[in-house]
Amino acid sequence: MKRTLVCLVALTCAFGEVGRAQTSAPAAPTITVGVDRPGARIPSTMFGLFFEDINFGADGGIYPERVKNRSFEFPDAMTGWKKIGAAGEATIASQNPPLKSNPHYLRLTATDGRFGVTNEGFRGIGLAKGAAYNFSVYARADGAAKEISVELMDENDRPLGAATIKNLTTEWRKHTATLRPAAGAEKARLSLALTNRGTVELDAVSLYPAQTWGERANGLRPDLVRLLKDMRPGFLRFPGGCIVEGKRLETRYQWKTTIGPVDERRLLINRWNDEFKHRPTPDYFQSFGLGFYEYFLLSEDIGAEPLPILNCGMACQFNSNELAPLDDLDEYIQDALDLIEFANGPAVSAWGRKRAEMGHAAPFNLKMIGVGNEQWGPQYIERYERFAAVLKEKHPEIALVSSSGPSADGERFDFAWTNLRRLKADLIDEHYYMAPSWFLANARRYDDYPRQGPKVFAGEFAAQTAGTAKPTNRNNWEAALAEAAFMTGLERNADVVKMASYAPLFGHVDAWQWTPNLIWFDNLRSYGTPNYYVQQLFGAHRGTTVLPVAVGGGGGGKDENNLYVSASSDEASGEVILKVVNATAAPKEARINLEGSGRVTAARAYTLASANLKAENSLDAPTKIAPVERKINVASTQFAHTFAPQSLTVLRVSNKQ
Ligand code: AHR
Repeated sequence: MKRTLVCLVALTCAFGEVGRAQTSAPAAPTITVGVDRPGARIPSTMFGLFFEDINFGADGGIYPERVKNRSFEFPDAMTGWKKIGAAGEATIASQNPPLKSNPHYLRLTATDGRFGVTNEGFRGIGLAKGAAYNFSVYARADGAAKEISVELMDENDRPLGAATIKNLTTEWRKHTATLRPAAGAEKARLSLALTNRGTVELDAVSLYPAQTWGERANGLRPDLVRLLKDMRPGFLRFPGGCIVEGKRLETRYQWKTTIGPVDERRLLINRWNDEFKHRPTPDYFQSFGLGFYEYFLLSEDIGAEPLPILNCGMACQFNSNELAPLDDLDEYIQDALDLIEFANGPAVSAWGRKRAEMGHAAPFNLKMIGVGNEQWGPQYIERYERFAAVLKEKHPEIALVSSSGPSADGERFDFAWTNLRRLKADLIDEHYYMAPSWFLANARRYDDYPRQGPKVFAGEFAAQTAGTAKPTNRNNWEAALAEAAFMTGLERNADVVKMASYAPLFGHVDAWQWTPNLIWFDNLRSYGTPNYYVQQLFGAHRGTTVLPVAVGGGGGGKDENNLYVSASSDEASGEVILKVVNATAAPKEARINLEGSGRVTAARAYTLASANLKAENSLDAPTKIAPVERKINVASTQFAHTFAPQSLTVLRVSNKQ
């Protein structure tokens, strides 16, 4: 397809840096915005979030349960737990458990005084001084055991808080207590002990912060939700990622096992547990405390459209490549139909009732579903076709997201696009984990895409500074700047690209498997990377309509100026929004011409810049690279602006017609 000259110019200029005589100063390029020639609508879903339970993103991350292996269901049932005291036994039993779906529990027998166990949490237990933590446990005792002491200890064994569970009975009963640590700690432990001789059995041990997002029981970690909300995301894709697929079909993500009472959600291995030999995480399992209901709530809380991705009868093709036979897909397709009912059905419908019973009588207003994650080949197309046939017939209102495979181009990619185009797919998910140079070189990728047919969901992307999924990748400014340049191309092509999300979202500094990640955290603190602030600027300054933009004015036309530009207008504020990436190490002055604009009254600039391409944010310097906002003086529809070296600038100009 021919490139449209006016609306889709990524970077052209009046002068180049190479080969130009140094005697005369080059003319500043002109950025011309066609304010009176609005183009495509920019959907509210344009910039969103990709969530996957990787890098301790859920358990140990945004899902703030402090006890690891709380139900003793890990294959090594004492994972995370250690005995304390010499005289006694800690064994695992499963006769007559309190929770049928998680049948194992701990039996503690003290033979001479204090004996018990201590839990290490997720690389330690994060505690804030004075904050309330709700402790709960199912317990039954033999009649001799009188009480259980519950204690919080810091890394140096200093006690931080304690409670006593009394009134033990011979029948299972849930006991609760509230602890308020006297001091904060990043790597505390939780100890449970019998203080006299006897036997007690314990299950579903929980230490849960009272302070969650929205003060909700089983709610999420507030600092991390705040970071997500501040991105103003248009959608939330969940639960992944490869985690949807599982290494084998039996370990695939099944949403129905992730709803209902939290203690009864059946534990499953996390597929990132042993994926990378260089980053093994043998204690990585999914408790599903963060399950589909919570994902829907989170979407609602942060104002994002929910986008659940479902297994399509294929286990990860990088692993077993196990396939559900085509004739056995009914169960998988039924899961999709039931999910739509769970999300949107009336509270009297079978699955809608489950949603209402969990506390949300109103529908979640689900509008799209992903069929498979990162699948490829004829096996995928055959399965997608079966899903689409049923879903389109029963739920034409639901858009389907399909997959173009793991790469940005190549045989698998072309095969998927050809076939999905034939099948009139709605949205095709493209993934690019590529070098920063690829992102710069591909800023015009979508200028040439066909304007008709399936739309694009840039569903997983992140610049890889060392190589795809290499553990030495960094979330530095070089990567973020390249992503920003690329994203101007997404926005300019909003008639083709409808959604985009960086991936992965979260990384625990002590427990990650994959890097780079958008947000890093430890047990108490968190920060947005430079890449985060790029996403945030695009999300917070998403216009509603694309405006044509050209960079030129002196016979340029090549990309030598390294300016990457997109423009839009915002219906609500009436502003013109210009996003400009200056990818060079020199400041760039440009003339800005708001063609067809009326009076210009005021402007603000939001600049994200660093002279050092290797610069990063960190827990100790979380906003070293963060947007700086300032007012700029603009007197007419034509004005000059100097774009800082290695910067992303968002200019918002008030435009009165
Ligand atoms: O984002 C990490 C992984 O990359 C995702 O799980 C998968 O879809 C892709 O291969």
